[in-house]
Amino acid sequence: LSQIKILCIAGSLGSGSYNRALLRAAEKLAPREMTFHTFDLIPIPLYNADVETQGDPPSVSAFKEAIQEADGLLIATPEYNYSVPGVLKNAIDWASRPPNPLSKKPAGIIGATPGIGGTIRAQQILRQSFVYTETYAMLKPELLVASCRDKFDAQGNLTDERTRRHLTEFLAALYKWVLLLKQQS
Ligand SMILES: Cc1cc2nc3c(=O)[nH]c(=O)nc-3n(C[C@H](O)[C@H](O)[C@H](O)COP(=O)(O)O)c2cc1C
Repeated sequence: LSQIKILCIAGSLGSGSYNRALLRAAEKLAPREMTFHTFDLIPIPLYNADVETQGDPPSVSAFKEAIQEADGLLIATPEYNYSVPGVLKNAIDWASRPPNPLSKKPAGIIGATPGIGGTIRAQQILRQSFVYTETYAMLKPELLVASCRDKFDAQGNLTDERTRRHLTEFLAALYKWVLLLKQQS
């Protein structure tokens, strides 16, 4: 079986983030053929055309290279005010500038929230951006982790059996999705 590299991106910066915890769980539950790297969005500055004109800041260049080198992306997004958090949208905005490494890149979208909506709105809005960036967001299955306070323990371990099973299935599907699209390119 082919080995593939997945770049994990969390749309939340806090150390106690559920979405970061969800990515850590994904790494543990994924098929052995998937290798995970995480890119932390903390150092990415706000998009500014004046700054871009002078050349991408080092953190932006590193982000774009990490996307370029990955076979696929796994993005765990919180939902903020029924949308994508600014930090994630900002990072995508930087990455989308030419040359755009998000183009034709397979991606899986997941998200966790203490609320009941499971980040469904944020995920849909992220998919909308991925139309313009030509990012191949996996269609199904979806992974919506609602009421996440009940699904992780105090150390941030994903303990809910049903969610663990869904995440395992999601990752198996993402593996196939990435391989399928790799064959096309
Ligand atoms: C500014 C802000 C807006 C929020 N808006 C929503 C929302 O629209 N829907 C939702 O389910 N949760 C919302 N929340 C709650 C987040 O889901 C919660 O803070 C979650 O833990 C964030 O993810 P994280 O733990 O990975 O940081 C909001 C939180 C903040 C700080």
